Amino acid sequence: MPNTILVGAQWGDEGKGKVIDVLTNQVDIIARFQGGSNAGHTVIAEGKKYVLHLIPSGILHEGKVCIIGNGVVMNPLDLIEEISMLRGYAIVPAGRLFVSCRSHMVMNWHRAIDKADEALRSAEKKIGTTGRGIGPTYCAKVSRTGLRVGDMLSATFFDRIREQVAEANARLKVMNAEPLDADEQVRIYKEAADFLRPYIADTAVMLAEADKAGKSILLEGAQGTMLDIDFGTYPFVTSSNPTAGGACTGTGLSPRRIDRVVGVIKAYTTRVGAGPLPTELEDAIGEGLRQRGGEFGATTGRPRRCGWFDAVVGRYSCMINGVDFWAMTKLDVLDAEPVLKICVAYECDGKRIETFPSDLDILSRCKPIYEEMPGWLSETSKVTHYEDLPVKARAYVERLVHLIGGRLGVLSVGPARETTLRLGL
Ligand code: IMP
Repeated sequence: MPNTILVGAQWGDEGKGKVIDVLTNQVDIIARFQGGSNAGHTVIAEGKKYVLHLIPSGILHEGKVCIIGNGVVMNPLDLIEEISMLRGYAIVPAGRLFVSCRSHMVMNWHRAIDKADEALRSAEKKIGTTGRGIGPTYCAKVSRTGLRVGDMLSATFFDRIREQVAEANARLKVMNAEPLDADEQVRIYKEAADFLRPYIADTAVMLAEADKAGKSILLEGAQGTMLDIDFGTYPFVTSSNPTAGGACTGTGLSPRRIDRVVGVIKAYTTRVGAGPLPTELEDAIGEGLRQRGGEFGATTGRPRRCGWFDAVVGRYSCMINGVDFWAMTKLDVLDAEPVLKICVAYECDGKRIETFPSDLDILSRCKPIYEEMPGWLSETSKVTHYEDLPVKARAYVERLVHLIGGRLGVLSVGPARETTLRLGL
């Protein structure tokens, strides 16, 4: 398989984990390029359910090499927990899981500050973060005070921990939050460093060498395009670039070595956390999608906000990421809907808008312009070939792809591996 970037096209939770799991058979190496344990990939394989927050789901496939790239903010304690969980299932990550020495670490004080920051925000300013310390860690990275994975190998690591705990405690005090004990933190991270040492590597070099040797690489994003720090609904976004551009800066693989981009998109829309969602359904239809789609966060368990498919968002994602192929997920969740609405454009102050506005004031005045299609009212999750889908289901899928651009490569009609219809991917 050619070198591929895989991204979420909406607000995350598009079902990337499952698509990655399917594509993994075709690649040698899978690398995560941004985010941290705010993500949650759920994979159901051979009747077992695995929820992974940091480690690429490729780890569930024997012999595949998995990388946590430099763009990821890596919580060492979460990583240890995940490695231990996998060992419990007789999956041994050692020797095929590598963490970039340049990846920044989410430390306990970053998590404490994330929670305290969010608690202090007024109701309308709350972002609804996952509380996993993601924002404060990227802040530390950009302000050049962060701790990188490679620092765990340095003689000054524990002095730096003491320094950082003292600084964080001063901030936490002002925020009325509990301080941390420096000795305890040193003990925790000493143990973590001992455990993780064998997994630390210069993964940019590994990727370049593997690419040169003709191996194929899948770069996987977490979250989604609309949560991108630059292109999402700022400030209601995450602190990294889940879009295709982030794949290269987040792994060190050159843009010239990328062959194609796969966008994962749900057949309707969801969002978890605060911020605009133009096609949101706050009624029985939205509740029905949530229940049938199991739309509850894999990381925080929060109910996801649900809405109709938004083709303005899809088009924008296609443009920002340069999507070649779409993997469309969760079509089966719409099986019971008699009528389906598709947002084809927005109306704002009497004008039709086809592109996603950057200004949240403008966005708040945008009303979706809907087109309606008849539902197929039959079960799709048993279908194994695209051609066997009800005609109305195919018409819906093809209309969505026509509206957003790109080609359909995968269609998923259920949570299990077997419910993935392949169309050229
Ligand atoms: P943070 O990434 O924890 O700082 O949260 C920022 C925003 O991104 C919040 O609205 C979160 O709900 C959202 N978010 C973060 N990670 C995910 C994810 O994996 N799926 C969906 N939303 C996410």
